[in-house]
Amino acid sequence: MTDFILTNAQLVLPDEVIDGTLTVRDGRIAAIDPGPSRVAGAIDCDGDLVIPGLIELHTDNLERHIQPRPKVDWPHTAAILAHDGELASVGITTVFDAMRIGSVVSNTRTDYRAYARALASELLEVRARNVLRISHFLHLRAEICSETLIDELAQFGPEDRVGLVSIMDHTPGQRQFRDISKLKDYIVGKHGLTDAEFEDHVATQVATRDRLGDRHEAAAVETAHRLGAVLASHDDTTAEQVAVSAGHGVRLAEFPTTLEAARACQEHGIAVMMGGPNVIRGGSHSGNVAAHELAGDGCLDILSSDYVPGSLMTAAFALADIWGDVPRAITTVTRAPAQAASLTDRGALEFGLHADLVRVHRAPPHTPVVRGVWAHGRQVG
Ligand SMILES: [Fe+2]
Repeated sequence: MTDFILTNAQLVLPDEVIDGTLTVRDGRIAAIDPGPSRVAGAIDCDGDLVIPGLIELHTDNLERHIQPRPKVDWPHTAAILAHDGELASVGITTVFDAMRIGSVVSNTRTDYRAYARALASELLEVRARNVLRISHFLHLRAEICSETLIDELAQFGPEDRVGLVSIMDHTPGQRQFRDISKLKDYIVGKHGLTDAEFEDHVATQVATRDRLGDRHEAAAVETAHRLGAVLASHDDTTAEQVAVSAGHGVRLAEFPTTLEAARACQEHGIAVMMGGPNVIRGGSHSGNVAAHELAGDGCLDILSSDYVPGSLMTAAFALADIWGDVPRAITTVTRAPAQAASLTDRGALEFGLHADLVRVHRAPPHTPVVRGVWAHGRQVG
């Protein structure tokens, strides 16, 4: 492990930004001092910001590398390495790789095959070879509206490094897809269905939810406890749904779709996570509440890159502009996700924590530029 010093940096601490010097020893933050360093060999950051490495709780970016085109199954180890490198390049040093659990096998046009168990094993195998740049944990997305959820969940055990289990319910006509025309755009665009096939798809999904939904929900909650994972809700829309989530022991709400739901989360002590793309595009692609509205209302706690890894850094600085507060904005992509995921060894520039660090050059109105990334004290970008 190389020891090093970053100096002439604007260090973004949890509550303030100071001009100073940060010393790394044995992969940990060993000192934070105001002012410049006189030590020979200290890295001059040229006045750039130095922030904690970003922590990403919900990304399906690995799937994009596995399937770069429809029906193309790219060699998985190569895909995992490329995904890992992409995240490092945009300042993410800890990721919870989201994998969907719960497939649909009976409807051939819109089927969804099981892949998570096999891919998780491959990811853990690559990780064990110590060739990944950043920290990887698993995030199981338990789809209630599916046919095989219980069997697939049973294939995971405590040795699998599952940090998060989210309860998803994408039954047409509710939550993310309350507006069924948005679902139609999405499904028809993806699978090329006719109107009649789309109607059939909706009817089948609703029937599946009616038949299996309650058992699936209970199984997801039970699995999170069994694996020692944090439980998350997904797309909660009403205060009633949030109350049910709280009853299950949910601590993190992914993408609540309304202001009502986000406020209810706050009342229950559930951290609210919204997508970076939503911040940057100024609204949700599914027509739900805009992240900047929640930010303005003070009920946005965490950002996720969702489907664009680079959005995490850019969106965090967009929040800094909305709030006029850089430390508060950086907390949404560092300390807040660490706390939500029960990671106590990272997420801030503090003595003793892992040296997960990003040097960022910021010159508004330009997009922030990542100039250096270190994970556990090792330069990875
Ligand atoms: Fe969703």
